[in-house]
Amino acid sequence: MSARPIILDTDPGQDDAIAILTALASPELDVLGITCVAGNVPLPLTLANARKLVELSGRSDVPVFAGCSRPFVRSLVTAEHVHGKTGLDGPELPEPTLPVDERHAVDFIIDTLRSHPEPVTLCPVGPLTNIAMAIVKEPSIVENIAEIVVMGGAWREGGNITPAAEFNIYVDPHAAHTVFESGAPIVVHSLDVTHRALMSDEWIESLRSLGTDVGIASAEMLAFYERFDEEKYGTSGGPLHDPNVIAYLLEPSLYQGKSVAVTIEIGSERTMGQTSVDWWGVTKKVPNCTWIDDVDADGFYRLLSERLARYPLA
Ligand code: BDR
Ligand code: CA
Repeated sequence: MSARPIILDTDPGQDDAIAILTALASPELDVLGITCVAGNVPLPLTLANARKLVELSGRSDVPVFAGCSRPFVRSLVTAEHVHGKTGLDGPELPEPTLPVDERHAVDFIIDTLRSHPEPVTLCPVGPLTNIAMAIVKEPSIVENIAEIVVMGGAWREGGNITPAAEFNIYVDPHAAHTVFESGAPIVVHSLDVTHRALMSDEWIESLRSLGTDVGIASAEMLAFYERFDEEKYGTSGGPLHDPNVIAYLLEPSLYQGKSVAVTIEIGSERTMGQTSVDWWGVTKKVPNCTWIDDVDADGFYRLLSERLARYPLA
């Protein structure tokens, strides 16, 4: 079977980093490009971090694009309190030399969807600004989207940036609204599922003991990253959100979900960015996504370990 073409849209972020490294070690996926967006930190930093990660992976054949530097309507909200000042605190990675592709991320997404012989899967693991902007600029691209597999949203679990909202959707709720109303097939990995698979110190240490550059850097970034959620939630280990999107593509049988209608709140400041999930079909609205709400946590971490252990790639 040929590799599944994907575009990874990201705001690295340590959990984004593990998503990128896992995808780049997986021959089942053809990563056509990595498109960066402002989110966890401002765009110049997410862009530098993505380039550092591509260099770390040894996959400098994968182009990196600069996307939108701010949300559609609202001011940018960032998350240095979680990810550190650089967005990728933990390891000391060399300053990247990989050039940034000269095309804008939004144009790359549009051109790729228009020209690729197969439908392309979009994997946004940051605010949805680039994806929504591409849909607004060229609505016909929706026809060539295989799926949009999103990390974002929260329902049963509650929000992580406000009581109502998850960070990625909250940062650009208008973009999220555009994407969820676009008619494209969507699969959502929200906090409801990511909080069901917490990291353990043993797992992080097992990455370090791989002894490779990727293993050591991954352990350093995750040790930094999990401290925030451990303190916040009082748990041993924190959620590793974004790699769920990649794990789902590689092994969908690890996940369970339901087809539901989801509406993004853009009218109320108190609940801005909330994902309103019609789990019981009370609105009679046609479902617009699959809401993932369970994961085989052991299987998830086994899969990530197996992929990260492939570095350095031959
Ligand atoms: C999401 O927000 C970011 O901080 C993480 O990278 C993840 O994409 C979790 O709410
Ligand atoms: Ca992210």
